Amino acid sequence: MPKTILVTGGAGFIGSHTCVALAAAGYLPLVLDNLGNSDRRVLDRLARISGVAPEFIEGDVRDRAMLDRLFAERPIAGVIHFAGLKAVGDSVADPIGYYDNNVHGSFVLAAAMQAAGVRILIFSSSATVYGDPDSSPIPESAPLRPANPYGRSKLMVEQALGDLQRADASWRIGLLRYFNPVGAHETGLIGEHPQGRPNNLMPFVCQVAVGLRDQLAVHGGDYPTPDGTGVRDYVHVMDLAEGHVAALRHAESQPGLVTVNLGTGLGASVLDVVKAFERASGRKIAYHIGPRRPGDVPAYWGDPTLAQDTLGWRATRSLDAMCADSWRWQQGNPRGYEG
Ligand code: NAD
Ligand code: WQD
Repeated sequence: MPKTILVTGGAGFIGSHTCVALAAAGYLPLVLDNLGNSDRRVLDRLARISGVAPEFIEGDVRDRAMLDRLFAERPIAGVIHFAGLKAVGDSVADPIGYYDNNVHGSFVLAAAMQAAGVRILIFSSSATVYGDPDSSPIPESAPLRPANPYGRSKLMVEQALGDLQRADASWRIGLLRYFNPVGAHETGLIGEHPQGRPNNLMPFVCQVAVGLRDQLAVHGGDYPTPDGTGVRDYVHVMDLAEGHVAALRHAESQPGLVTVNLGTGLGASVLDVVKAFERASGRKIAYHIGPRRPGDVPAYWGDPTLAQDTLGWRATRSLDAMCADSWRWQQGNPRGYEG
């Protein structure tokens, strides 16, 4: 009997790719999403990739009564919790909205799991909990000093889940700190489609390549990095998806809490991404160097050693593959799931 895994936020970017990895690993993903930042048509695409669409429940993780029913009716073996809001700027403008969704939502979910006796929880944290690090690569033991409400919401949930596991040692918790997820499934059937003007680099580059935007504004060319532009640890979303399966398997094998970075351990600059995307797409990416973006960190990348040692996971897909897969998705779906 395949095990059912509840995937909150499973219609979103990382969640949908994780549904593919879960199905490939023999699990039954059950998606719970309020569709606040996603499109239900992703389910048909998942069916085309995996042979069958995951079961979908439209609902909100803050709805305790709905969660209680769900846990009572389904043989849920564990939960991967992606549901949340992720735009740093919005979190500065609406901190309480962010704490309500990300922190309160996680508390409602954990309380429902506690009541139902479901003890496996994999949580989407973020490298943003490190803030501006003293040095890179960043190990998990680095100081935690998130610089905005979004980052603080992730740290609060990490801390609360740590307390929960200390209070009840039967919990099996994985806190996964993602670096910069990009790319798309290699079929080009699912990917990331931000609403409105993209904040993040890769979606913006994609939209320039496909002609939706004139040029990329490179946010700063005077950083103390090899080419003066910001450096990040871009990680392919399918590597990330497989990291969740590895974390789930680890949690199944033993109680406890693990906190791991999911990144490649390699830094790439904005111009490295532009060049890789030009190679992958065969298109020229017009850009200009503009001012620095307030709040940006010059450079950071993760130390992936602990993920390899504890989960047996490491990222295998290159920056060229991230760009090629992003491009395939963008070309085939210039308006996202609208076609
Ligand atoms: P996403 O917005 O594509 O996916 C999140 C999904 O959760 C969406 O489908 C949204 O509709 C849903 N959702 C939001 N609030 C909900 C609620 N209260 N109840 C039910 N569903 C809800 O974002 P993503 O990039 O796939 O990110 C997934 C998770 O990973 C988020 O928690 C995010 O903070 C975290 N994360 C993302 C990144 C990144 O750069 N993409 C980096 C680090 C961490
Ligand atoms: C990458 C680089 C920019 C856009 C954000 C969140 C973080 C995490 C991942 C969730 C930087 C530069 C970007 C553009 C540019 N999310 N850039 N022109 O800022 O590293 O991380 O997403 O947890 O919390 O802060 O990602 O893709 O926005 O930027 O030059 O139009 O690209 O300055 O150097 P970031 P990003």
